Amino acid sequence: MYSEKVLDHFHHPRNQGKMKAADGIGQVGNPVCGDIMKIYIKVGQNADSVPIIEDIKFETLGCGAAIATSSMLTEMAKGKTIDEALKIGKLEIAQELGGLPEAKLHCSILAHDGLKAAVADYRQNKNKS
Ligand code: FES
Repeated sequence: MYSEKVLDHFHHPRNQGKMKAADGIGQVGNPVCGDIMKIYIKVGQNADSVPIIEDIKFETLGCGAAIATSSMLTEMAKGKTIDEALKIGKLEIAQELGGLPEAKLHCSILAHDGLKAAVADYRQNKNKS
């Protein structure tokens, strides 16, 4: 029922764990199932001084699909400008994983919303300093 890529990211999640001194932290809950996820981002700048996601980590209290989609999102977002990373849609994450079963599509919401929340937190922190 899961693609090999989903199983790979579930069994060997990339960028999983806490990040010390993160520039932004987003915590979200999935309204469908109540699962929780946290995304940490470290923001740097590219050669044109545009803010980029220099590093990203996640912690998920959720199902296998939530872990796999979070892991894939961190790989897709790392190195991208913040604006590019925010454009990564939940269907795109599922597609990169070789698809998700229909009943598990909602699980990719967590990763997507977690990144948005982490960026909002980063922007708020930046405005305070
Ligand atoms: Fe909750 Fe998948 S069942 S995120």
